[in-house]
Amino acid sequence: MNSFAGKRILITGGLGFIGSNLARRLVGQGASVTLVDSLIPQYGGNRHNIADLQGRVTVNVCDVRDRYALEYLLREQDYLFNLAGQTSHVDSMTDPQVDLDINASAQLSILEACRRVNPSVRVVFASTRQLYGRPDYLPVDEKHPIRPVDVNGINKFAGEGYHLLYSAVYGIRAAVLRLTNTYGPGMRVKDARQTFLGIWIRQLLEGTTIKVFGDGNQLRDFNYVDDCVDALLRAADSDDAIGKVYNLGSEEVISLKDLAEKLTRLHRGGRYELVAFPPERKAIDIGDYYSDFSLIRRELGWSPTVGLDEGLVRTIEYVGSNRRHYWDGAPT
Ligand SMILES: NC(=O)c1ccc[n+]([C@@H]2O[C@H](COP(=O)([O-])OP(=O)(O)OC[C@H]3O[C@@H](n4cnc5c(N)ncnc54)[C@H](O)[C@@H]3O)[C@@H](O)[C@H]2O)c1
Repeated sequence: MNSFAGKRILITGGLGFIGSNLARRLVGQGASVTLVDSLIPQYGGNRHNIADLQGRVTVNVCDVRDRYALEYLLREQDYLFNLAGQTSHVDSMTDPQVDLDINASAQLSILEACRRVNPSVRVVFASTRQLYGRPDYLPVDEKHPIRPVDVNGINKFAGEGYHLLYSAVYGIRAAVLRLTNTYGPGMRVKDARQTFLGIWIRQLLEGTTIKVFGDGNQLRDFNYVDDCVDALLRAADSDDAIGKVYNLGSEEVISLKDLAEKLTRLHRGGRYELVAFPPERKAIDIGDYYSDFSLIRRELGWSPTVGLDEGLVRTIEYVGSNRRHYWDGAPT
């Protein structure tokens, strides 16, 4: 991969979980990085995520719905990693308009800004596997029908569709990654707004019982954040990725019950119980899911390198020693 040294890079959602890990990697390579984030309390933005990067990144607290701010910020950038998003599936059902505004409308205005002020910028958009809905077959490849089970999935699909459209029609050099469950240091653990795994890790560290919804046999795949960052960089770096959509995923498929079991084993303590799905979650549950990520493996040479045990140990250690920044006394 080329180095991003000396490149100017804008990351929307840059104070969030994945954005801040991406920023760290890019700063390490000598890039000049600007982070845009609204720091809306219900979302994953957290200043502690970049505590070690103080003075080495530019932070702009603003909202991607502010099209004029984005137009200003996009000028003269070489790369845009477009990660800002409303990530909660349940919130997308209780407040669908906000999800639409951030995950769809704002994406369109960001692309309009690219077209107007910086048509040569390289763009990578973080989409989600959620848009496939309940799988017809496993593993799910990119040809699987799109059938979102929640408002968030519909709006993220619109968001990625705008990127592909602007690539095809206006030559904006955009690529789309459909992320699966991503975890690691910096993830939101206060609640289940980002993934259920966040609240599980909090429950584990607090010594309360991990609640596994349903029979716990639902299958999932997970990516450690460093692997996700690696995929984002590969998608930005390769011309083959322009105008394309790639699944991320892992061959390490695990049931939720086994995952809860694994967490208690790795932590040498803790317990879990199976509980009935809350109705609002049952209504949007996707059942079993894991990805076929052979396309990105073949075309961009990406595959995950951090195993689940290792990634979970690193995550538990990080969250455990930084808990006051993520829930106890953390700014809300
Ligand atoms: N973490 C996962 O498992 C996962 C899975 C699939 C897709 N994704 C996608 O990856 C991207 C990054 O997710 P993440 O896990 O880092 O979540 P995150 O919540 O930590 O990061 C998103 C960031 O966007 C910011 N943001 C939200 N709305 C904004 C707005 N209107 N203006 C400016 N900033 C805003 C938030 O403050 C937050 O810092 C998201 O687009 C998400 O949909 C993540």
